[in-house]
Amino acid sequence: MSMIPLCSTVPTSRQIPGGAWGRSWGWTAREDGALFSAWPGVDLTIAVLDSLIQWSCLCENPTGKSPQEMKIVTKLFSSRLQQKMCSTYVVTFFTLGTVLLFTACSDGHDDYDTRSPLSLRELADGRGILIGSAVGTSSIAHDMQYIDTLAAEFSSITPENAMKWSATEPEHGSYTWENADSIVAFATAYNQAIRGHTLVWPNEFAYKDTPDYVSNAPDAETMQRYIDDHIEAVVNRYMDVVDRWDVVNEPLETLGSELDQNVITATLGEGWIVRAFQQVRRLDPSAKLYLNESLAERPGEKHQGLLTLVRRLISAGAPIDGIGLQSHFLFGPPSIDQMVEVMRDWETLGLDVAITELDIPERQPGEEEAQATSYGNVVAACLSVETCREITFWGFTDKYSWLNSFLGPESRPLLFDQNYNPKPAYFAVHAALVGQE
Ligand code: XIL
Repeated sequence: MSMIPLCSTVPTSRQIPGGAWGRSWGWTAREDGALFSAWPGVDLTIAVLDSLIQWSCLCENPTGKSPQEMKIVTKLFSSRLQQKMCSTYVVTFFTLGTVLLFTACSDGHDDYDTRSPLSLRELADGRGILIGSAVGTSSIAHDMQYIDTLAAEFSSITPENAMKWSATEPEHGSYTWENADSIVAFATAYNQAIRGHTLVWPNEFAYKDTPDYVSNAPDAETMQRYIDDHIEAVVNRYMDVVDRWDVVNEPLETLGSELDQNVITATLGEGWIVRAFQQVRRLDPSAKLYLNESLAERPGEKHQGLLTLVRRLISAGAPIDGIGLQSHFLFGPPSIDQMVEVMRDWETLGLDVAITELDIPERQPGEEEAQATSYGNVVAACLSVETCREITFWGFTDKYSWLNSFLGPESRPLLFDQNYNPKPAYFAVHAALVGQE
């Protein structure tokens, strides 16, 4: 603790900034030697003490004080005797003030020392956006640190795999809901929104989500019926808790800009996409319906390809409310301007955007600070566009990132390290949500 500057000529009001305290929870001394603290009660006590000391100095040695201060002192305490009384008063007040100060320190210290800053979800609430994480079933079943962090920090959950077709209906008409149900129960218990991910993901570039019976359907009609049945079953089960659906995932070629010629699209043409959106709208009219795409977060061919496809789907009658920008920044993160440009294009089309699967792998070991800056940029970009109202990360701890098997554990792409310590990326997201970018 630094000393209160005795008889300083710096006016008290400037020494005690009252509110202009940074993010430290403890005591801090500014360059001019003044003390300040995160707890306003302590600031007030110091303000009182500091004033008393200054008044005491005035009683004994009025010279060097401003004419206004002199005037008041001589008016109140004109004789030498009165000046002595003045000192006595001041010393008494000083003693009382000291007691008050130490009471404040000892009573309140534990509280404000251990008090956490606002969580991401509290900050996001204040900004009117959702802050989400993808969630795996086994981690919420056995990892207490995972549970605590997920519950405390996130206002939305996306089931990482549990609601996908391969997980919910591995055989036609035979449903396995346990894993998705357990995620729904978690989200409900912790008052978190749920993003329904994903009804149909036909692209097989890196992962095959549509079960074999779909790809092997004997004819187009049967394939369409499988899709209809699947959508109906999942939406009916979760429509009360899911408020937005990734109806179709990755309709474009992963590394190109044309419609992906997976077995479903090759068999049914793009009409199945229009029909899927219409069906979900009919079943769950209040949910927001998204088309979710990868690698389309910056201006360029894929973004243009997606704009073209979505315009076409909308004019064919697809009720699309928004575009999910997955934001797996495997090839490096875009700049704020690039992201804003892309989001504005969607806004112009009358569509919302959501950052749905954000992760930013370190491309070289020790890139933590650059990674943090990129995370802050994504949040800043989203906050600057009215129609971007969600940022969901693809997990939150490096312990369980899907990139551990894809790129290796050294990619450390998330906000918390393997031991749940917040990384610079976490603080960058926090600061950006506060608006400190
Ligand atoms: C990934 C999961 O994280 C992995 O566990 C799983 O093996 C494959 O799918 N785009 C998406 C997500 O839309 O569903 C994918 O999730 C990551 C890429």
